[in-house]
Amino acid sequence: MSLIDLTAVSFSYGRGRRVLDGIDLRIEAGRNLGIVGESGSGKTTILRLLLGLALPTTGRIAFNGAPLDPGNRSFMRDFRRAVQAVFQDPYSSLDPRQKIADIIAEPLRSLNVETDISAAVAGALASVDLPPDAAQRYPHEFSGGQRQRIAIARAIVSRPELLLADEVVSALDLTTRIRIVELLKTLSEKMTLVLVSHDIGFVALLCHDLIILEKGRVVEQGPAGSILSSPQHPYTQRLLASTPRLPDFA
Ligand SMILES: Nc1ncnc2c1ncn2[C@@H]1O[C@H](COP(=O)(O)OP(=O)(O)OP(=O)(O)O)[C@@H](O)[C@H]1O
Ligand SMILES: [Mg+2]
Repeated sequence: MSLIDLTAVSFSYGRGRRVLDGIDLRIEAGRNLGIVGESGSGKTTILRLLLGLALPTTGRIAFNGAPLDPGNRSFMRDFRRAVQAVFQDPYSSLDPRQKIADIIAEPLRSLNVETDISAAVAGALASVDLPPDAAQRYPHEFSGGQRQRIAIARAIVSRPELLLADEVVSALDLTTRIRIVELLKTLSEKMTLVLVSHDIGFVALLCHDLIILEKGRVVEQGPAGSILSSPQHPYTQRLLASTPRLPDFA
């Protein structure tokens, strides 16, 4: 069964133009999805809808087959717990005044998850290969790649079914990127990933299926392998041509 379905979803910010138009997509457990498009194509807006931070202007979103119902608190809590996200900037996404332990525990507190919080934090730190003593330190003591690991630990501490990652490697150097890709690959054994990037090569490393987004519309979708080997739409061909291939940098 699908985890989340978007059916004919359109979205506008306020009274502005449509930034998403007629989006149909299905996220199935165990099939990682990549959403690829140029800046402004609507990638982050799709993630906001998948997180329930924004509601579609028209169209429907379903979670486990049932339509999202903002009035149903326990349903929305299950939904929020099932879907967690990591955003692009590892410097601005962590509160500098909070200890890492409190940063990582935040979803457990806001979702009222009944668990041993310090054990859960320790487990999340171990999952992202950070030492246990990181819990008592502050964000400024960590590098960009380590901060991204902390943000990932916060996203997985509540054991979500779906992990959304918005341009998580864009700000990182190549070696750090490769390590984060390896970490995401390990995590994808336990949860489904939705990766957003302008870099089709990066998402193709981890995703079974791709959606190519141009100005709020899906222009191409399908298995990552076939899109990479025979892109049909000129926009996809342009995106592929502008993606640096990893071996060129190695
Ligand atoms: N809060 C907002 N208010 C009004 N318009 C917005 C807002 N956020 C985004 N937009 C507009 O919506 C469109 C899609 O933005 P979005 O951030 O989803 O694109 P994106 O694909 O994530 O881009 P990028 O790769 O630069 O992150 C853009 O035209 C953007 O200007
Ligand atoms: Mg974005």
